[in-house]
Parts: sequence; C-alpha cells; structure tokens
Amino acid sequence: MIRTPICDLLDIDHPIALGGMGSATSPELVAAVSRAGGLGALGCHYQTPEQVRERTAAIRRGTNRPFGLNFLLFDTREDSLQAALELKPSVMQFAWARPEQDLKSYFDRAHRAGCKVTHMAGTVQEAVRAAEAGADVIVAQGTEGGGHVGFMASMPLIPMVVDAVSPIPVLAAGGFADGRGLIAALALGAQGILLGTRFLATQESPLHPNFKQAIVDSDGHDTQLSEIPDIAAGLVWPGAMTRSRRNRFIERWAGREWALRQHRAQANAKLRAARESGDVDEGPLSMGQDAGLIHDIPPAGEIVTRIAREADELLTCALPRFIMQDNAVKGAANVKVHH
Ligand SMILES: Cc1cc2nc3c(=O)[nH]c(=O)nc-3n(C[C@H](O)[C@H](O)[C@H](O)COP(=O)(O)O)c2cc1C
Repeated sequence: MIRTPICDLLDIDHPIALGGMGSATSPELVAAVSRAGGLGALGCHYQTPEQVRERTAAIRRGTNRPFGLNFLLFDTREDSLQAALELKPSVMQFAWARPEQDLKSYFDRAHRAGCKVTHMAGTVQEAVRAAEAGADVIVAQGTEGGGHVGFMASMPLIPMVVDAVSPIPVLAAGGFADGRGLIAALALGAQGILLGTRFLATQESPLHPNFKQAIVDSDGHDTQLSEIPDIAAGLVWPGAMTRSRRNRFIERWAGREWALRQHRAQANAKLRAARESGDVDEGPLSMGQDAGLIHDIPPAGEIVTRIAREADELLTCALPRFIMQDNAVKGAANVKVHH
C-alpha cells in the first residue's frame, strides 16, 4: 500500500484528498471519502455559521476519521470561519486569497484551534507566500482542473512548487482522476493528490444525476475556461477563470460578456433554475479535463480504494519492468552492433 509522509501528517491511510468544492460537496460525500481512508473536505463558502455547525455534525455522525473544512479566503464570512475554527476540524483547507490578505493571521488562528492548514496555489509565487505564512501542506493546482483554476498546467507547476516550498509537502491537484495520476504526482515530487471532478461523479455527490451523467459522457475535450459563470453570479474572483463544460449557456455569452453583464439578474435566475432541474445545456457544470477519464458513478469510498489499488499495482508490477536489471544491463553492453 502506498503511504507517504503526508498520511502521517494528516492521519489518513491513502494520500488522496477531496477538494472542498462549495455546494458541490455534502456531509455524506466528505464522510465517505474519510471513512475510506482519504481526506474528505466540506466546502463552507457562503454557508451561515449554523449551516457550518449542522453540516460538520453530520460529517461526524458519518465518520470519526479526519476531515477538512474549506474556505475561500477572498470572500470569507468571518462568523462562519469562526464557527468552523470552534468545531476544531483536523484540517482547515484554504484557497484563493487576495494578494493583500495576510495569510499568516488565518493560518495562525487555524493552528491555535489545533488544525493543520492546507492552502491551494496555482502559481509558485502563491505557494511560497503560503509556505512563508506557515501552511502545513501546499496544494498545487493546475489549470486542467475543474472550477476556478489558474493558468499553469499541472505538469510544470507541481515540480516547480515542490522545489520552491521544500520540505513542506505538496498535494497535486488539477487533472488527477485515477491511479496513474497518483503515481505521476508522486514522480513529480508531490506526496499525494487532491481531486474534485472525479468525486462529483459519485453516488454521494449532491449534484443532480444529469450533471453526474454529463461528466461520464464527457470525453474531456469539452471544457472551457471562462468568466461567464462568475459574471452571471455577480462574482469577481481574484485571478481565476472557471473551467466548466462548454454548453449552450457558455456558448451564448462567449465574446458577449458585456451583454451578459447587462442581463445578469435574468441570466442568473435562469442558470439557478437550470441547475436545480438538471438542465445540462443551460446550467453551469464546473469540471476538469479529467472528465474524459471518468466512466462510472460509484460510491466515493470506492474511488479512494480503487485509486490506491491502481497506484500500488503500477508501482509494484508495471513500472519495475522498465528498470533494467544489472544482468540485462551487462548483457546489453556486450551486444555487438553490426552495421
Ligand atoms: C464544482 C467545483 C467547485 C469547486 N469549489 C472549490 C471551492 O469552493 N474551494 C476550493 O478550494 N476548491 C474548489 N474547487 C477546486 C477543487 O478543490 C480542485 O482543486 C479541483 O477540482 C482539482 O481538479 P480536478 O477537478 O481535475 O480534480 C472546485 C472544483 C469544482 C469542480
């Protein structure tokens, strides 16, 4: 079984974490991931303190394993953040701070509450800022991922972040969905992976069944980075666009963002209705390019154990075959090349 030092740090069995994806996470999903030995995380963005308390209690009814509470720092409700800290989750999972925000003050409060701190970064600069502010784990998120992402791809970003923040451990995010991804992340120097899109297509995910099916149906080539969902929602994100499914809603407004601003209230009302009714053409679906690797809708715990098993098989069976044994190397050296 693959274990990395981050498993000891976070007290988990497998180096596999759930991204706290706002309203796309639920206590059932978080508990299922944590029960399976991964790290579940609940997105607390826009929740009232009462909701944070109720939903955390629901997670605790589902598992006694560690889990995280996720906050978007640029737009955090202070009363909800305070409620979360009083609940003393194992991990406070932070992301998306404004450049002028003092990360250390947030991280110190979390540490005083006895929590470990993870912070998500889409650039080396942000990763270093979080490391200097005392984060215990940096989540390096590449642009392949679903939801709000930066512009650097995981392949170069992850080893760059690993080098820049060493010895602080790094979780790789953005485009990871199976055991091959976990092994690739470890090869790039990360100590595990954090997944969003893969966990959206699970039985415990709160998404409408049509949206889960749209992820399964995707070949991964149908995502687009745009500001359109944020413009419709009236959100100004600090330095990110959203990667979502390129559907009729996105295509209608692409290149006409000015018109969307003009009709924002109307468009937002339609969009909310479409999300609730499961209209995949008119409702926004944040998902990553790894949707093309997702072919089923199993229980979330099965995803954790499956990824761990696949990675284990790769590392112990498939990859060692590529290493030349000493004898084979000597044999190869003795082979005469005839021209
Ligand atoms: C629907 C959706 C909502 C998300 N919301 C949040 C959020 O509230 N906070 C956060 O830290 N990350 C959020 N993310 C990003 C994930 O934490 C993660 O970085 C990303 O999904 C990884 O890429 P992947 O989708 O390819 O696995 C969200 C992602 C998705 C798909």
